[in-house]
Amino acid sequence: MQFFIDTADIEQIKKANDIGIVDGVTTNPSLIAKEGRDFHQVIKEIAQIVDGPISAEVISLKWENMVKEARELVKLAPNVVVKIPMTKDGLKAVKILSKENIKTNVTLVFSTNQGVLAAKAGATYVSPFAGRLDDIGHNGIDLIAEMVEVFENYMFDTEIIAASIRHPQHVLDAMKVGGHIATVPYSVFEKMFKHPLTDKGIEAFMSDWEKFTQK
Ligand code: E4P
Repeated sequence: MQFFIDTADIEQIKKANDIGIVDGVTTNPSLIAKEGRDFHQVIKEIAQIVDGPISAEVISLKWENMVKEARELVKLAPNVVVKIPMTKDGLKAVKILSKENIKTNVTLVFSTNQGVLAAKAGATYVSPFAGRLDDIGHNGIDLIAEMVEVFENYMFDTEIIAASIRHPQHVLDAMKVGGHIATVPYSVFEKMFKHPLTDKGIEAFMSDWEKFTQK
């Protein structure tokens, strides 16, 4: 399982990358807007920190403009992956870009049929949004499980990024069903590190060591 970090916050990316847990980064227009800085500049800065794939999303909705935007985005750094929404225009753009060897991540995927269409168009990655499905009373992890099964049946090369991850249990469940990658917010990484018995154990080791050395 690979872990991408789902943020455009440079400090969070640096912290996670320094620990050595980051295989890539995903951003989206909302995450970029939160930073309040120039989009291209933010992507360039992220690319200076992380060697793995960095998803940068197009803003256009028409395929011709998506293709133009994508060709500009990949000039920012060699590891930029172009994020494209799951629409007819989006998949038309993905098809064209895949012929140009431009990597794509089809986003806002909420059904296996959508995922299969994206894979057939030549997407490098598809991003099913687990948390947003849970929000409307569906089961996001079931979608990832189904997608893994179908992609294996047809031996698609497209990798499945479990996205819209809200808590550590989502990460664990995505791994259990064989999701290839999970894109995880920094706050969720922090929670994944923690266990009360680890803290208690460290405390006991430190106190026993102190007593021993003071003898
Ligand atoms: C994925 O690539 C998206 O950026 C992200 O996971 C969306 O998560 P959200 O539903 O928490 O906004």
